[in-house]
Amino acid sequence: MSQRQDAEDWDALIKAARGEPLALARLADRMADRELPKAPVDAGTEKARALCYSAIAEAPNDPEIAAIAANLLSETVPQWHATIILDRARNEAYDAALQAAIKPGMRVLEVGAGTGLLAMMAARAGAAEVITCEANPLIAERARVIIAANGYADRVRIIGKHSSELRIGEDLAGPADVFVSEIISDALIGEGMLLVTEDVVPRLLKPGAAVIPYRGSVRIALANYTAAGTMRMGEVDGFDVSAFNRLIAPSYALPIEDPLLSLSSAAADLFAFTFADGGPFPARRAQLTLRAKAPANGVVQWVRIRTDADSYYENMPRTGEGSSWHAEFYPFFDNSVAQPGDDIVVHGSHGRTTLRIWAGKA
Ligand SMILES: C[S@@+](CC[C@H](N)C(=O)[O-])C[C@H]1O[C@@H](n2cnc3c(N)ncnc32)[C@H](O)[C@@H]1O
Repeated sequence: MSQRQDAEDWDALIKAARGEPLALARLADRMADRELPKAPVDAGTEKARALCYSAIAEAPNDPEIAAIAANLLSETVPQWHATIILDRARNEAYDAALQAAIKPGMRVLEVGAGTGLLAMMAARAGAAEVITCEANPLIAERARVIIAANGYADRVRIIGKHSSELRIGEDLAGPADVFVSEIISDALIGEGMLLVTEDVVPRLLKPGAAVIPYRGSVRIALANYTAAGTMRMGEVDGFDVSAFNRLIAPSYALPIEDPLLSLSSAAADLFAFTFADGGPFPARRAQLTLRAKAPANGVVQWVRIRTDADSYYENMPRTGEGSSWHAEFYPFFDNSVAQPGDDIVVHGSHGRTTLRIWAGKA
């Protein structure tokens, strides 16, 4: 069957299912099923998602429709969206910096709207205009709904574009007074923070504009993780399966309050970036020596972000409060255990969006 005939088939089925929301949702599910022949994947997927919204509009309280729709609509949306907005300390650090930076009449630019939370904070802090871009079209659409529902549609504009496509005169009337973003990954730089900052600061901001966060660092310490043995393979039932370790990720994301993790040295910055300078931020290597104060079987990494001179956020492990960001635990490559008094050299390299950490005895 040709693609055109195929698409016409689907259209006939959709027409027949109009007025029957569950049938519409099931059709959406089948359209998105990659096993079935259908119109080109992107068009088909988009159509399937539109059908989900039609089915929801007709039967907003049907749990089967909700389940089918949630499956399809969440496909490209990371689950952490639900946890970051509940991170009280994160939100407070951003809100405080926005309130301090924004003066009446100012234009604020955000990269990465998500739910629209930070954009609404900026509007609440007194911005005349907030322009926020969001690269994921499904998320941009939801942010528009949320901003309208909260009464900020007159001051907050969502642009469904990647930040690199924003243009002065087209998307912004002029350069912005304040730039805010929260595109910070567990490793700080994995969501493109360095690349976005290098592009946005010189191109879309007034000279001297406030940049929130204005600085960020990759923090590390020696650490002991008592379940580290489960992260590497050895002998199982008399068989040596250790060769599989070459396929195992070098680090593990742990909740920062994990009781099996403890810090074994002072903390230090492995890399630090002043975002407000706008870069450039070339790939770099670094190394520093940490003295073990307690047995250590690896290195733990977390982030610190300074939203302004007075406010910062840090998810240092075992400090009492949870975090929407994870800590990354890197077991020593040779499974050794450092003893109190041992000096360990920790090495790092970053490739602007990637981070590597490894360690050895001094
Ligand atoms: C971690 S979320 C933050 C959401 C919201 N600003 C908050 O802090 O609650 C980052 C969002 O930015 C979007 N994003 C990341 N990089 C982007 C870019 N360069 N241009 C546009 N959107 C981007 C992602 O799709 C995601 O929705």
